[in-house]
Amino acid sequence: MVDAPRTNAARRGGGDAMSRLHGLAAALAVLGGVSGVRAEVPTTRAPTPAHVWSFDGPMGRFDMASVQRGYAVYNQVCSACHGMAAVTYGDLAGIGLNEAQVRQIAASHKVPGPLDDDGHPTRRPATPNDHLLSPFPNPQAAMRANSGVVPPDQSRLAMVFPGGPSRIYALLTSYGPAPAGMTIAPGHAYNPYFDGRQTAMPQPLRDHQVTYADGTDATLAREAEDVTNFLAWAAWPHLAERHRIGARIVLYLVFLFVLTILLKRKVWSHVH
Ligand code: HEC
Repeated sequence: MVDAPRTNAARRGGGDAMSRLHGLAAALAVLGGVSGVRAEVPTTRAPTPAHVWSFDGPMGRFDMASVQRGYAVYNQVCSACHGMAAVTYGDLAGIGLNEAQVRQIAASHKVPGPLDDDGHPTRRPATPNDHLLSPFPNPQAAMRANSGVVPPDQSRLAMVFPGGPSRIYALLTSYGPAPAGMTIAPGHAYNPYFDGRQTAMPQPLRDHQVTYADGTDATLAREAEDVTNFLAWAAWPHLAERHRIGARIVLYLVFLFVLTILLKRKVWSHVH
């Protein structure tokens, strides 16, 4: 029964190509055997597929509705393991939230407070000046909870992660069963976009993992794109401003250039 596909292919006239393929596979297997290496499933990470982002290019800007939904994804899912210590709740004003919303979001989180009278640690509601801290008190606790790997801080992840936003998107959407023959370490999951094609991060997003306040259908792809937009905003919070200033500088230089030409014509107009 195992041979059925081959017989079917042969009947359709693809027999030659098929048997050549089988021959090649056999030859490779023999070569592998000779050198003592078994044919292995690839473990170097897969190349990142390109993804189109609204913030790409010199005139790119963030889709703020998506960035706001992305914060909801971070808050409801990623923040269980990843901090964003370079970002304060007050910074969230930059994604278009007003002061009351920022205060409300801050107050819904607890951060370490002063020691109480007996010297025990306390927790207090956060204020807009507080940072989005790691949920783990120290790296040892983070490792214990995550199969021996510390979930990295996400403040600048979109900037420092090799492959950038497109690879973050790719890895969030590419969990799946490991190919036959691949050994997955305990507590790890298969994912072609991680080094070694496996990761200590369990699949964080699925369809309808979060509920969006604006009623957007929370598909896996939507959630992944939104949270990546949010992480990109956190890494480059002044991108739109920089692009605006850049455009003005270019306009100014064009203006200066035209002025110089006119001046040159005037100065040389008497010379014949
Ligand atoms: C249950 C804990 C947990 C949750 C929830 C979680 N992560 Fe992770 N994440 C990890 C761990 C652990 C690693 C390190 C994995 C490794 O190196 O194998 C990691 C690594 C990553 C990396 C790769 C970073 C690097 O430098 O290798 C990205 C990107 C990432 N997480 C994004 C996210 C996003 C986005 C979310 C929310 C949608 C999220 N994670 C939710 C635990 C978590």
